[in-house]
Amino acid sequence: MKMWAGRFTQPLDPDFERWQRSFGFDRRLLTHELAASSAHAKALRNADVLTSEELITVLKGLEQIAARAAESPQFLEDSEAEDVHHFVEKELVALIGDTGYKLHSGRSRNEQIATDLRLYVRATIDELSAYVADFCSALVERGQDSGNAVMPAYTHMQRAEPVLVAHWLLAYCEMFLRDAGRLADCRQRLNLCPLGSGAVAGATLPLDRRAMAKELGFDGITASSIDATSDRDFALEFVNALSLLALHLSRWAEEMMIFSSQEFAFVHLPEDYSTGSSAMPQKKNPDLLELTRSKAARVAGDATTLLITMKGLPLAYNKDLQETQEPLFDAAESMLSLLPLVAGWMKIVEFDYQRMQQAAETGFLNAWAAATYLVKRGVPSRLAHELVGKAVRLCLDSNCELQGLSIQQLRELSPAFDQDFYNCLSVESVLALHDVPGGTAPTRVRQAITEARQKIEFIREKVHAHA
Ligand code: ARG
Repeated sequence: MKMWAGRFTQPLDPDFERWQRSFGFDRRLLTHELAASSAHAKALRNADVLTSEELITVLKGLEQIAARAAESPQFLEDSEAEDVHHFVEKELVALIGDTGYKLHSGRSRNEQIATDLRLYVRATIDELSAYVADFCSALVERGQDSGNAVMPAYTHMQRAEPVLVAHWLLAYCEMFLRDAGRLADCRQRLNLCPLGSGAVAGATLPLDRRAMAKELGFDGITASSIDATSDRDFALEFVNALSLLALHLSRWAEEMMIFSSQEFAFVHLPEDYSTGSSAMPQKKNPDLLELTRSKAARVAGDATTLLITMKGLPLAYNKDLQETQEPLFDAAESMLSLLPLVAGWMKIVEFDYQRMQQAAETGFLNAWAAATYLVKRGVPSRLAHELVGKAVRLCLDSNCELQGLSIQQLRELSPAFDQDFYNCLSVESVLALHDVPGGTAPTRVRQAITEARQKIEFIREKVHAHA
């Protein structure tokens, strides 16, 4: 039996009927729909719409539906169900008879879908946060393992200064920690329960909204029935947060790819996550990284679809809202499947520390440190910059590094150069010079590793508390 056919005299056009159904995708919401329905059933008991016996029968029926769905995916192959709400009603009636129809008393699918989607996003945030924590952990632990290994840091894609490999990896960790933070913010804002909002004006029965919210683990209830049934901000916030996460992953993937090219060869691609070429026998291609890079486009597309779907929608529920589901699921599932893979990649990728070290030793990565030497001896910064620039020019002409210039050559440029100048030029000295919180001096990086571990632990604890 349809949920709404009484006033109709004709059946739907069969193509339209098939086309407008959402069960093909909203079946993902089944567990949330069942949980929300149990909470509603209990509220119906309190409002004396269901007897105690009827409540028990309904709850048992809902449990049976959950069990059957878990047992066999075949159970969900229902060609008549319009959506997940209709599916549950049909199955419940099949199991317990007409009492099943009582479950819909005083409620509307408009509040149900709003509730199910909030529960879905909340659960997905918890799952994703755990994965982001794992990925961050892989970055930090690889940083820890790399000890005092160094590499060039680049600005404008040109060698700039030496940094610890750990410092480089922690930069990515910070981005992903912010992504986890955005997900946590979104979770906090969405965690209010729409149940009891009815179709638009509120439930038609005296349902205890706070009890339903509590049962479902919400922090409270939504304030406006009109807003609650038409709001999808939480889905937008979530997918926008995911598009930033995907964007950060694409930057990470891109850099790993560049560093794995033969020209850099800082990174050896793990065979476990690479493929060959059907034509060129020598090839090992970074497929995982390439597909990771492309997910940013896909998730940003999902975010855009959501934004444009919502734009200009009048209050309150409109069927357009059904179209917010697929981009939401697509973005969530794209990230859910990707994150464990990038963590796996990160855990086993090999770095060529020797190549990185060599690259950090050439190309005047100590030039700013050299200028700082002069600044500490009282030379005004701009003039020190100019002098070291001239020294670099001399080196370029005679094909050497700053260390290769004689003290006479240097003193011809400025009497501020002394024999101890050479001490400030080694990679170790340059690293030690950057001795500020957040800088690449080894003691600072050790500290940063400790702090990153704490931030990761904090995410894990929160996920654990929500489980
Ligand atoms: N499948 C619908 C959706 O996703 C459920 C709500 C239907 N409400 C209605 N008034 N037709 O939006």
